[in-house]
Amino acid sequence: MREAGSLCLALLFPAVLALDFGYHHSEALGAFLQEVHQRHPSITALRSVGRSVAGRELWVLVLGRFPTEHTIGIPEFKYIANMHGDETVGRELLLHLIDFLVTNDKSDPVVTKLIDSTRIHIMPSMNPDGFEATTEPDCFYSEGRFNKNGKDLNRNFPDVFSSNNVTIQPETQAVINWIKDESFVLSANLHGGALVASYTFDNGNPAIGSLEDYSRSPDDDVFIHLAKIYSSNHASMYKGNQCENKPVFPHGITNGYAWYQLQGGMQDYNYIWGQCFEITLELSCCKYPPASQLHAFWNDNKAALIEYIKQVHLGIKGQVLDRNGQPMPNVIVEAKGREHICPYRTNQYGEYYLLLLPGSYVINATVPGSGSILKTLAVTNGPENFQALKYDFTFPEVSVTARDAACPTKPLYQHFESFSAAVKPTLHFLALMIVLYTVFK
Ligand SMILES: *[C@@H]1O[C@H](CO)[C@@H](O)[C@H](O)[C@H]1NC(C)=O
Ligand SMILES: *[C@@H]1O[C@H](CO)[C@@H](O)[C@H](O)[C@H]1NC(C)=O
Ligand SMILES: [Zn+2]
Repeated sequence: MREAGSLCLALLFPAVLALDFGYHHSEALGAFLQEVHQRHPSITALRSVGRSVAGRELWVLVLGRFPTEHTIGIPEFKYIANMHGDETVGRELLLHLIDFLVTNDKSDPVVTKLIDSTRIHIMPSMNPDGFEATTEPDCFYSEGRFNKNGKDLNRNFPDVFSSNNVTIQPETQAVINWIKDESFVLSANLHGGALVASYTFDNGNPAIGSLEDYSRSPDDDVFIHLAKIYSSNHASMYKGNQCENKPVFPHGITNGYAWYQLQGGMQDYNYIWGQCFEITLELSCCKYPPASQLHAFWNDNKAALIEYIKQVHLGIKGQVLDRNGQPMPNVIVEAKGREHICPYRTNQYGEYYLLLLPGSYVINATVPGSGSILKTLAVTNGPENFQALKYDFTFPEVSVTARDAACPTKPLYQHFESFSAAVKPTLHFLALMIVLYTVFK
């Protein structure tokens, strides 16, 4: 009866279904997400992962064929927007992305395959208080950047490279807990104030080779690919020169540190401690553009937002099993030559996911104290098939559970900190640029 009733209403008032191109404040945003979940209960789950300082819910809409929980073999993906409350385009883009995904499931083949193969988590606003504190559209920096305690959330994460000594804010803690709860594989973090896809590391020092103004991760090739997927599928980001008073970014991408160094950023945290590859997307030259431009922003970003999610199927995935076929958590699984600062380990279901470009790799699965299995695997293009290469490791001799992860305590590289600043030749020039243009991510 309820179904028939809402169908009649939908036929009578089809406009109710369409999401408008305007800014949605907290109440409207929450109501929209509730409505999406009510209309599409089988492919969505709605949860709040915590509350802001002022008590606003940090909503996450989850989409997938099995939205309420993890399914073995289905990778977890996330988008987060509006962590700087005055950078508003991403917040609305993610609402439109949700609308697009739920309304095209079972009709658009790409959307259907995405929902079949991926669990997609969407947080339209990580800083709802900052958004509400920014009352007027304004292209430049404003107080709404910060949370209600005046803290910049993209400087508020633990940092492996230097002691940033921050008081972790409720919004940051909620995201940290959420990252620990789910085994995210790929993510993007949506900002405004420039037009570029920026990738880890944002911080660094000579110990990891961050000389010459570039802080290279062992997965630099994968990050460049991910950033280029976004910029090249965007209407104009790939041109790299779309905003006045900003550097020219070849291909519309940049290493974070090469643009400007920052401590306590979210993307480094995801990569180092979350086993999740995250990039930072700067989506508008103007931080808070007029609502009349939102439709054009959606058109410019739609293909890129979809294509980027597909990249969660890069590389290799599988399970590590003991001699009884039982999944083994906490087993280190890494590609040779790409060992991470905090080694990547299997999750509670014994699963690993390694994002790798097509090529040949030696994968090392290690139960600490009980030996390693090395396997050479040839990776082909997974995103095309919405499926990474699958390979399971079995330890025939072992039936013990590996011990929990021993990650480095922060800051790992503190003793290099002063050296790092000293060898940066353009530091003063960069500082001047920052003062001149108030460039903030
Ligand atoms: C960290 O910050 C707190 C509060 O601002 C301060 O009391 C403490 O001394 C700082 N610790 C370090 C190691 O700088
Ligand atoms: C495999 O990984 C383990 C744990 O990281 C390491 O101790 C071992 O040396 C690696 N083996 C090879 C052959 O690289
Ligand atoms: Zn920002």
